[in-house]
Formats: sequence, C-alpha cells, structure tokens
Amino acid sequence: MAATGKPVDYTVRNHVAVLTLNAPPVNGLSQSLRRAIKTALCDAEGDGCVEAVVLMGGGRMFCGGADIKEFASGEISEPDVNVIIRQMEIMDKPVVAAIHGVALGGGLELALGCNLRIATRDARAGFPEVRLGVLPGAGGTQRTPRLVGVGLALDLILSGRSIGAKEALERGLIDALSERDLLTDAIALARRACQSGDPLPVAGRLPFNGTSDLEQTITAALEQVLRRTPDAEAPKAIARCIAFAASGVDFEEGLVFEREEFLKLMSNTQSRALRHLFFAEREAAKIPNLPPDVALRPVERVGIIGAGVMGRGIAMTFLNAGIPVTLLEIDADALQRGVEAIRSNYVTRQEKGRMSAEDLKERMGLLRSSTNYDDMSDCDLVIEAVFENMEIKQNVCARLGEVCKPGAIIATNTSTLNVDTIANASGRASDVLGMHFFSPAHIMRLLEIVRGAETAPAVLATVIALARRIGKVTVVSGVCYGFIGNRMLESYLRELDFLLMEGATPARIDTALEAFGMAMGPCRMMDMAGIDVNARVLDERAAEGALPDDPGYRALVRKLAAMGRHGQKAGQGYYRYEGRTPCADPQVDRIAAELAATLGIPRRDDITDAEIRDRLLLPLINEGFRILEEGIALRPGDIDIVWTAGYGWPALTGGPMHHAEALGLGRVCHRLEELGRQTGDRFGYFAPAPFLLRRVADTA
Ligand code: 3HC
Ligand code: NAI
Repeated sequence: MAATGKPVDYTVRNHVAVLTLNAPPVNGLSQSLRRAIKTALCDAEGDGCVEAVVLMGGGRMFCGGADIKEFASGEISEPDVNVIIRQMEIMDKPVVAAIHGVALGGGLELALGCNLRIATRDARAGFPEVRLGVLPGAGGTQRTPRLVGVGLALDLILSGRSIGAKEALERGLIDALSERDLLTDAIALARRACQSGDPLPVAGRLPFNGTSDLEQTITAALEQVLRRTPDAEAPKAIARCIAFAASGVDFEEGLVFEREEFLKLMSNTQSRALRHLFFAEREAAKIPNLPPDVALRPVERVGIIGAGVMGRGIAMTFLNAGIPVTLLEIDADALQRGVEAIRSNYVTRQEKGRMSAEDLKERMGLLRSSTNYDDMSDCDLVIEAVFENMEIKQNVCARLGEVCKPGAIIATNTSTLNVDTIANASGRASDVLGMHFFSPAHIMRLLEIVRGAETAPAVLATVIALARRIGKVTVVSGVCYGFIGNRMLESYLRELDFLLMEGATPARIDTALEAFGMAMGPCRMMDMAGIDVNARVLDERAAEGALPDDPGYRALVRKLAAMGRHGQKAGQGYYRYEGRTPCADPQVDRIAAELAATLGIPRRDDITDAEIRDRLLLPLINEGFRILEEGIALRPGDIDIVWTAGYGWPALTGGPMHHAEALGLGRVCHRLEELGRQTGDRFGYFAPAPFLLRRVADTA
C-alpha cells in the first residue's frame, strides 16, 4: 500500500477500514502516531460503511513499541496507548491486528488491545521493556496473564525475549497465522468476526485464572532473574504488577497500578542508563567520516588462521550464521584438535536439546579444514588468531598478503599489538583491520573493530555490516596498545596488586566489585583469563619501556605467574580451585604480605569497600577520558558499549562514562586527586586527564 506521508494511512476495503501505521523506521508509538491512530479509529467508528477495522504496520514491521526518546521528559503526553486501547475495546466494530515483522512492547500491547490478532509466520512478539529498565505500561502486565496464563506472561515480561508467530499461536497470544497475503487474511478474519454475531473477545474482560501457588510461582520467577541482576528495579515492579492482577482486583485498578509503576521506573537512573546503552549501541555502528554509499565487499567464505581458543570460537560464530569457514592450523594434529573441539561443542549443545541433529550436520558441513595457505585463496575475509606474538603475526600476514585474492579482507584478532605494524607486513595495508573478538567468541556479543591508518573505507564498512550479520555489537577503535577495552583494563588492574599488598584479600576485592555489579571481580577474572597471559603482556610492555620502571608495579601478578599460579587452569592463582570453585587461599595473602615488606608498602586494616571500588574504577574512567581525547574512541557511548558488552560492567549503570556523568564529573575529579594524594600517585594515573578537567571546567 502506498504511504501518504501521514502517520496513519486510512483506506477502506470491502467495508473494512485499514489503518496502516506509517512512522518509519519502527512505527514507534510517538505522540503524533498515537494521536493519528486515535483520530483514525474515530473516523472508522463514525463511518457508516465500515463494519470492522484492521490495524497494521507499514514498512518492515507492525510496531517496535513506545517511542523511547519520549521517556527522557519523564512523562507520557496524551493520548497514551491505554486511551487508544480503551477506544478499541468499547467500539462495537471488531478490530484485528495484522502483525508482520515484530510486535514489541507497546506494539504488542496495542495488538492485545485489539479483539483478534493474525500474524505472518515469520513475525515475532515480545515485551523487551525490562531490558530498558521499564515494564509494559499499557496493560501488558494485566492482559497477558489473563490471555495466556501467568507462566508465559512472567516468562515473556521478565526475560524480554520474543517468541515466533507459531509459538504465539500455540500459546494463545495470537489467534491466527496468515498463510497468504496478510492484509487479505486480516480483512477476511475481521469480516468473519462481524458476521458470526458472537461477542467480540476482549482480553481485559477475561477472568484472571490463577492457581493456588501463584504467589510462589511469581516469587520463583523473580528470584531467578534477580540472581543475575539483584539490584534491578524493573523485574521487581513487574512481579508486583502481576501479583496485583492476581490478587483479584478489578482490571481497571490493575491498569492504574501498572501505570504508576511504569512512570516510576521510566524516570529512574537504571532506565536512563539502559536507554543510553540502547541508543549508544546503534550510534556506535555509525562512523562519521565513512561515506554512507561506500560499496561493500562480498563476504561468502571466511578463512581463520589458528584453531586455538579464539580461532574455534570465531569459526563457530560464522558457522552459526550460516557462513562457510576454512580453518587453517600449523599442522594436522593441531587442526584435528580444533575441529574436534568445535564438533564436541555442538554435540554437547545437541545433547542438551539446544540444537537439532540437522543443524549440527549443517554447521559442520560448512566447515573446511586445511594446513595449506593456498586454501585461503577463495576466502573473502581471513582472520588470523595465532599466538600473540608480533613476529609470528607479521609472518602470517605476509603470507596472507600473497595468497589472498585481490579485494579479500585480512583481519587480525590481536588483543594488544599494533595493528598498523601487522597490516604493513601484509603488503596491502588498506585491506587490513583488527577484529578483536572476546572469549568465548561465539557467545560474547562485543566485536572491537580496529581501524588502521591505511584501512580502506570499504573494508571498515564491510566488516561493520558483517558484524550485524553474525549478531555482534561493534565499536570502532583507533590503534593504540590494547585498543579501547584492554587499554582501560590495564588501568583497572593497576591498583589491584597494591590493594592486595596493603592487606585486602582477593575475596574482599571481588566482593566489593561484584556488589557494584561487575559480572566478576578482578581476581576471579584474572584467574579465568590466565595470570601467565597477563604477565607475558606486562613483560613485553616493560621491555618496550611502556610501563613504569618500578618493582611494585603489578608486582603480585608477576610473582604469581613466576610461581606457576596461572589461574583456574593451574588449579591456583589469586584463589585455590576445587574444580571450578574458587576458594580463599591464605598463601596468597602471605605472598602479598612478603612482597609488601620487600617493597616497603605499609599494611593497613582500614581499607573500605568504597576505597577498593574507587581505586580500581576511577583510574579506568580517567583512562576513558584520555582515550576520547586521543580520538581512539569516537564517543563516550562507544566506551560504555565496550565495557558492558565485553567486560561485564553493570548495564544498570550505563557503562563507565555514563556512570561518571551520573556521579558528577567534578566529584570524579576531586576523588581522583584525593586518591593521588593518599597513594602518592607514583605513576601519575590518578592525575585527572586534561579532557576530564576541561569537561569539569565547562560544566562549572
Ligand atoms: N523508540 C525510539 N526509537 C527506536 C525504537 C523505539 N522503540 N526502536 C528503534 N528505534 C530507532 C533506533 O534507535 C534506530 O534509530 P537510528 O536509525 O537513528 O539509529 C532505528 O529506530 C532503527 O532501529 P534498529 O537499528 O534497532 O532496527 P532493527 O530493524 O535492527 O530492529 C527493533 C528493530 C527490533 C524494533 C529494534 O529497534 C528494537 O528492539 N527496538 C526497541 C524495542 C523496544 O524495546 N520496545 C519497547 C519500548 S518501551 C514500551 O513499549 C513501553 C510500553 O510498554 C508503554
Ligand atoms: P591459542 O594459543 O589458544 O591458539 C593459537 C593457535 O594458533 C594455536 O592452536 C597454534 O597452533 C596456532 N598457530 C600458531 N602459529 C600459527 C601459524 N603460523 N599458522 C597457523 N596456526 C598457528 O591462543 P588464543 O587464546 O586463541 O589467542 C589467539 C589470538 O587471539 C591472540 O592474538 C590473542 O591475543 C587473541 N585473543 C585472545 C583472547 C583470549 O581470551 N584467549 C581474547 C581476544 C583475543
């Protein structure tokens, strides 16, 4: 149907008014769209030739929900979605929602307010509000349990996941699947509803069918969510709304209760932080000086060099997206180990019922393996994931420069090394960039893309588009040690060893950071990543003269590495391991105390949790300002995405840079200076970054 440029297109077909939402890109329910729907419904009601209404979305989807940008004002202007739904519910003409693409959040609530719902087979429906720190605020918590039962309602609303149309039909969320043309089928459904003479179904008038153990069901579902994010407000409010509905109150009272809870959440800091991340994630894929019309290079086959920890995960990332992979190793044994590890990962998934036998066969069928570099010649993109050693990487890239076809992209998965030096070794630096995956690569969402000095715009644009295809969120970084994430990680870890030497235990430090919301405290994280790996990087950096020339700097990590306490894989690191369970190890405290004595570091018993957090987190934030000033990161939001998607920083705080703004930059500055005085700041990392100081001065 041709769009008229109005927010809602109104046409009449076969005595059915067809209201088409026309608010690209997602038909977000902005005030202008809400007003237009209200007016169009009045028109349909007053039109004597119209017997029924079909509500559908123009463009790619039915409706992506409320216009989140409006939340910033702290209120929802009239008419809100509840008003529209009320209007549909009291109309004596049937209203049918015709869903294609997605019906999410307020979009699904709008559909639930219609008498009937029909969807295309590939459509999806869900309530993602919890991911934005809010809840369905237009009756979703009240109508959904009435329509499909409390179990599914809790599942959908607490998880934010969406379900496909087939499941939605089976579970009663929709009434029919469209087998041919959606609009034709929706009109036919609407006409049948008129002709049947049966009372029109209204979800809000259904009784609340609860079982006696309802309260327990709600508490158990909530507890499960809070295990991951105990501080999250939205899940608690969702549980309250559903429990309120279940308590036997009138439906209208439930709507009022839900609205109050929604408005409270909308204005709280958690929702602001999560909305910031939603927009930051989309913004991060936009690169200011990249021409929008740059022609993308085709990527039909990907080559991967090295089938170690990362190579295997990267291979599975592409196989999972249906992209053929050629995996290359140094010899047949290493290659077989890599391929078998991939197969065994898939077999385990199949055994757990998360993958079908056909999918397993299909994915392994897309995998070719080789020990011959000539087999890279038909790949459109080759990613090297060999040892973190400049000479080896240069040799590999020189070889790839020779064997890869013209136009093929060469990427390095280095986590710290200079991408330009690696690119130059290839002899075709414009084809090269960094693709820094995170471990496990097939699970972690973040992909840091490192743009070299010579990287061609088409290469960068192709990899950003490809990342979307393989389900990654991308951030583009400039070239420097560790790029955005690992460079800031070093700032995070610098005070760790000093705190331990001063007398804080690993468990104490981890608990303080986990209470702040980090997915894992720094000691557990280091034990998992490998203390030897970190110590090797430190040695290399020290040899380059890039680290402070001071025996105290990261002294404990080097000592533990030298003692073979390499972390979880060695059964001991900052902790002692029983299986994968970390146990406090008094020996680590003794080692730390001995080092402190040797280095003349006084032991203290007055270290507070707040000091632990500040000494670890504020230098990290400070480094973020340096990274911004140098142009390594394009925006503060990019840094926030790196840390929330790649390093377990709590999304509820919006990432380190958003968190700093929320704390107040003046306060951050002041506390850094205070800590600098307290610790002596031998290495200068508590000195506020010039950009931070300027920001403080600008806002004073
Ligand atoms: N409000 C405002 N803008 C939105 C939006 C929304 N709900 N959803 C998407 N957008 C914007 C994006 O910021 C982006 O803008 P840009 O082009 O300027 O960067 C543009 O629309 C396209 O978005 P995507 O790139 O994400 O498009 P996709 O096609 O990949 O995905 C989508 C579409 C699945 C709808 C995805 O955008 C999405 O998940 N959106 C959010 C859905 C959501 O959370 N809905 C609930 C909102 S809260 C609510 O409804 C409250 C209610 O209960 C009262
Ligand atoms: P790994 O040691 O598990 O695997 C490296 C593999 O490369 C080995 O199987 C080795 O046989 C193979 N290899 C070495 N030289 C080769 C050559 N010339 N040709 C073909 N294969 C060769 O190492 P891992 O952990 O997979 O790291 C690989 C790269 O990924 C490194 O650059 C590392 O810094 C980076 N990285 C590692 C992360 C991690 O958490 N392990 C995270 C992000 C990046």
